[in-house]
Amino acid sequence: MIQVTWKIKHLLVLLASLSILLLVFIKYSRQRSAENVHNLHLYQDELEYNKHLLQEASERIQDLENKILALEARVPKTYPEVKFLNYLSRKRILITGGAGFVGSHLVDRLMLQGHEVIVADNFFTGRKRNVEHWIGHENFELIHHDIVNPLFIEVDEIYHLASPASPPHYMYNPVKTIKTNTLGTINMLGLARRLNAKILIASTSEVYGDPDIHPQPETYWGHVNPIGPRACYDEGKRVSETLTYAYAKQENMQVRVARIFNTYGPRMHMNDGRVVSNFILQALQNDVITIYGSGQQTRSFQYISDLVDGLVALMNSNYTLPVNLGNPVEHSINEFASIIKDLVGGRSKINHLAEVEDDPQRRRPDITRAKKYLNWEPKVDLNTGLQKTVDYFRQELHRFKHSQRNKFLPKL
Ligand SMILES: NC(=O)c1ccc[n+]([C@@H]2O[C@H](COP(=O)([O-])OP(=O)(O)OC[C@H]3O[C@@H](n4cnc5c(N)ncnc54)[C@H](O)[C@@H]3O)[C@@H](O)[C@H]2O)c1
Repeated sequence: MIQVTWKIKHLLVLLASLSILLLVFIKYSRQRSAENVHNLHLYQDELEYNKHLLQEASERIQDLENKILALEARVPKTYPEVKFLNYLSRKRILITGGAGFVGSHLVDRLMLQGHEVIVADNFFTGRKRNVEHWIGHENFELIHHDIVNPLFIEVDEIYHLASPASPPHYMYNPVKTIKTNTLGTINMLGLARRLNAKILIASTSEVYGDPDIHPQPETYWGHVNPIGPRACYDEGKRVSETLTYAYAKQENMQVRVARIFNTYGPRMHMNDGRVVSNFILQALQNDVITIYGSGQQTRSFQYISDLVDGLVALMNSNYTLPVNLGNPVEHSINEFASIIKDLVGGRSKINHLAEVEDDPQRRRPDITRAKKYLNWEPKVDLNTGLQKTVDYFRQELHRFKHSQRNKFLPKL
């Protein structure tokens, strides 16, 4: 009995100790949670304060950015140095399609010579970026305009270049391509007639179609499929030439017609689907270089600065019949592929795919006329021109922000 009482006593003592421990623990936990709540409030306050500081800092940064922008606006934009021409020798020149590949180089040339240049372009294949280095210059104006609609401005000369030029672009909307080359040309010829201005039409070697004489002189009438996939461009350009000579005869106008052969150089459209841009892009990206057909078909490519020399010489000449502007040095497509592969380096393989419909087999200009009447012939050899083009494409591929400008200025 004494033993049982003793055990109960022990048990009671144990229970009492446990209760005390529990009470202490509860009290301690309450204290801790009160402390936690207190700390949480402190953290929240601190967070709020930091947020406030951050907000204040970003407002100050914004203020500073606005000030920098305002200061930058006060610093005059720098332009390439242009020659000064007095009002007697300075011409006002319209270039349709001046934001495109050829047009933008012509803009550079005429601007550097000191003329006033107006570009009218609908930006279908052209880009502002090609002429951005002139935007804001007192001699330069850029008009967003589709030449299928009439344009009323005052100019002394017109270079009419507006038209998509590469097969994927002109086949994209064949009816529009025809309209641009017919209605557009009528609008420009009408403008030239009203202003008594000289007009140069950019025609093409495609008016010869798939030629059965070689090389092609201007007297050759061509071999064009009028209903093939390229007809919208080939026949569009042929009508453009017909319209030009009809206006010249009927309205006694001064006209020039340049039959341009394949041209390449910086500012070519990156994906215009033509041989040079395709091969360079494929080689730079170590992709397979694709050749359509056997690769035995030939092309002759002129560098852009040679073409611009020819266009300006033609406009300034007294010669009114069509003139071929192209480089007569002919290479097979296979040769082009290996020249470009060697220039770029890299590990691209060459692959042959099925031939494209109506792809001309031989293309080479006879430039006797240009030599005789314009004293013109190409100067830039293929390796030099291709190297500049490869450098340009490489730079474009590495471009990652807007401020990297598309500058490529020929020297005066
Ligand atoms: N690059 C060549 O190898 C080559 C060969 C033969 C002929 N051409 C001729 O030279 C001219 C220029 O060719 P490119 O290589 O610079 O081509 P591109 O595509 O780079 O330039 C053509 C320009 O015309 C503009 N344009 C097209 N349709 C228009 C419209 N309806 N209204 C206003 N602007 C319009 C485009 O936006 C672009 O800026 C074209 O007429 C083309 O047929 C070029």
